[in-house]
Amino acid sequence: EFSATEDPLAGSSITKVGVVGLGTMGAGIAEVLARTGLTVVAVDLDEEAVRRGRAHLEHSTARAVKRDKLSSDDQYDLFSRIRYTTTLSDLADVDLVIEAVPERMELKAEVFAELDRVCRPEVVLASNTSSLSVTELSVVTGRPGKVVGMHFFNPAPVLKLVEVVRTVVTEPDVVAAVVGFVERLGKVPVVIGDRAGFIANALLFGYLNHAVRMFESRYASREDIDAAMRFGCGYPMGPLQLLDLMGLDTAYEILDTMYHQSRNRLHAPAPVLKQMITAGLLGRKSGRGFYTYD
Ligand code: CAA
Repeated sequence: EFSATEDPLAGSSITKVGVVGLGTMGAGIAEVLARTGLTVVAVDLDEEAVRRGRAHLEHSTARAVKRDKLSSDDQYDLFSRIRYTTTLSDLADVDLVIEAVPERMELKAEVFAELDRVCRPEVVLASNTSSLSVTELSVVTGRPGKVVGMHFFNPAPVLKLVEVVRTVVTEPDVVAAVVGFVERLGKVPVVIGDRAGFIANALLFGYLNHAVRMFESRYASREDIDAAMRFGCGYPMGPLQLLDLMGLDTAYEILDTMYHQSRNRLHAPAPVLKQMITAGLLGRKSGRGFYTYD
């Protein structure tokens, strides 16, 4: 029998965490983990991807320092807890892995199969996926009961929600341990089954899609649509600004997946979204979306 502190599944015994994929979400998640005092092994495909992830993290923590949310010493300590690598086998001794690679099932399945080979058998494998099936990911591993979703929100260092996704085969102890771990990060966990959109996106994306349709039909200007929701409803940013922040390609994928699963017209992606993506208007990350950025 393991005691609570020795039980490798108990949230409190997790000290070293792997993060796979260092895009916006992966870098943000690595920041949250390192800030909590955990050791992080941060993995991406090649040196360039690692460099971009590190730059993202430096920029984000610099913002926290500037806004008095983090001291320079703590920023330095945070950096020192992260080890960057391009080799997945460097995750052999971690206590938990959070995967945040691009939202393509083949890619994620490949990563999960490899993580299953590399990581100790009791280690929980979590995916930050926002719209793919966690169940499908779980069955490419030999430990489907230890696979969960851990869905963070962008920007991860700022937003407190983490949706913990359990499948029909996730072990109850694993869900409890992940919930405990999320609380340890200072975040707010909610537990949900494996359905596209989980809670927050299922509610949010009908609204965002409606805003795009309003814009598309020239019913109102982009500025006025955004101003209405900011100043009339107290949202921190308007729907078109938020779409630019999350990336139009990401938003399209989420809408499309939810639409295919539910057939609810609410989630049928507004046609202009696809046109903007084809034209390279992906939002902030490409310099232009509904708005233009320098
Ligand atoms: N660590 C800790 N705190 C940080 C930080 C960091 N790295 N970076 C910034 N902060 C703090 C700032 O100090 C600031 O706090 P105060 O207001 O107390 O000073 C706060 O976070 C906001 O930061 P900024 O001032 O830099 O930015 P802002 O005021 O312009 O707010 C925003 C930007 C946080 C993005 C805000 O507009 C917001 O919350 N927007 C909504 C975002 C949203 O809805 N995201 C969800 C998208 S859906 C999703 O992600 C799921 C999916 O699957 C696609």
